Amino acid sequence: MTTTNTKDRVVIFDTTLRDGEQSPGATMTHDEKLEIAELLDDMGVDIIEAGFPIASEGDFKAVSEIAKRSKNSVICGLSRANFGDIDRCWDAVKHAAQPRIHTFIGTSPLHRAIPNLTQDEMAERIHDTVSHARNLCDNVQWSPMDATRTEHDYLCRVVEIAIKAGATTINIPDTVGYTAPVESADLIRMLIDKVPGADDIIFATHCHNDLGMATANSLAAVAGGARQIECTINGLGERAGNTALEEVVMALKVRGDIMPYYTEIDTTKIMNISRRVSTVSGFPVQFNKAIVGKNAFAHESGIHQDGMLKNAETFEIMRPSDVGLADTNLVMGKHSGRAALRSKLEDLGYKLADNQLKDVFVRFKELADRKKEVYDEDLIALMRAGEDAAKDHLVLKSLRVVCGTDGPQSADMTLTIGGQEVSTTATGDGPVDATFNAVKDLYGHTAKLQLYQVHAVTQGTDAQATVTVRMEDDGNIATGQSADTDTVVASAKAYLNALNRLYVRRARSGEDKREVSWLDQN
Ligand code: KIV
Ligand code: ZN
Repeated sequence: MTTTNTKDRVVIFDTTLRDGEQSPGATMTHDEKLEIAELLDDMGVDIIEAGFPIASEGDFKAVSEIAKRSKNSVICGLSRANFGDIDRCWDAVKHAAQPRIHTFIGTSPLHRAIPNLTQDEMAERIHDTVSHARNLCDNVQWSPMDATRTEHDYLCRVVEIAIKAGATTINIPDTVGYTAPVESADLIRMLIDKVPGADDIIFATHCHNDLGMATANSLAAVAGGARQIECTINGLGERAGNTALEEVVMALKVRGDIMPYYTEIDTTKIMNISRRVSTVSGFPVQFNKAIVGKNAFAHESGIHQDGMLKNAETFEIMRPSDVGLADTNLVMGKHSGRAALRSKLEDLGYKLADNQLKDVFVRFKELADRKKEVYDEDLIALMRAGEDAAKDHLVLKSLRVVCGTDGPQSADMTLTIGGQEVSTTATGDGPVDATFNAVKDLYGHTAKLQLYQVHAVTQGTDAQATVTVRMEDDGNIATGQSADTDTVVASAKAYLNALNRLYVRRARSGEDKREVSWLDQN
């Protein structure tokens, strides 16, 4: 790569499709994974960790297909420290123009105890597995899982072994989100100082956000000498998530004065991919989330608005357009035509084929009839609500709810289940309860409701409500979302959305016979 930039390049390794998707409830379908991979490739992500090929037939197929379709990004797959995993990973990533095998083993005392390996036995395993991966692929990444809780002398020893065996990137994971910025920088510095051969490879940082320090720890690791940051869109990931891509990338961009590093990410694509990941994973973005939250660029208080009008820099350290937010929120209404809708949706990052536009236009007109002013947020909610309805197992056909002060409330509902139309009337303690009871009548299930949340998309009593529903069934968790000017309809659709996701997940686990444990390395 030729560049005139005098700053150091930091490569961005995105693991939304592997560590992110591993997060309970964040299941994505095959097509959704391909779409997210394409967006990551387009925005300039250097390495995409596309999945864990040994984990399931579905993961293997997704990684293979992403590898085949990749344009500029390196495509990486994860494998545990055994030959079977590594071979399977190679079979999936080998289709990429630039493949990478990522192999890992837990090196801390707690993690060593589980496969019951002595330090010497584990060292030998690392040598053998990294050499095996390197014989298959020129680009090999090795990770000592739980590195931040591994004894320093042992960590140096195993990193040296992995480098000698052919690893080209050494990733230092803070698996449990335990480290802090000073320690994170010192650890990378210590490895670079002490390990022979460290200058010939790239050190990566992979942080989890259990103490809310993932972004700070990643940037500190870069100051210590790491040149690869592992991250996910919206910080998706197990427990409190991984380092958020948008946060580290924008921090390096905005504070280049004190952090002399740069990435090749096209930051104007951030908002679009953030919305898509939120939609397909079913994980809403918290309103005040840095960079991509709904309020990240909102200036509500009078004093802020006054300053903003005089000079935007008084309260803004980056422009909304830097992350792909349109500067204006032009309101659409029932007189807006198809061309205006297409152009507005394109501004919001949705490229639609003519037949898709036709369908969205009908739904847009229905919404504009019920709601005088249609804002960007309404259109985004409309796009989300319409997705996959045609492919869904459970689809809401009609709902009529009778409310009043003298309960119980009742709901008349018609659904199509696998294409068959079924109807019922159910009662409940309130309109939402009656609606959910109607779904249970028509589609008996054991899934339990873990979360029910309602937010108004915009202001006004005609605002659409966005409803989020989280359900749990036999250890599987799924989050459903929907929006409608009618809160009860939005609730019914969100509930069905969560059940549809559980349905997809069950269908997948039926096909996936292999259950893999990270701690079982055999
Ligand atoms: O958090 C972690 O340790 C991981 C490894 C597999 C890199 O995700
Ligand atoms: Zn991780």
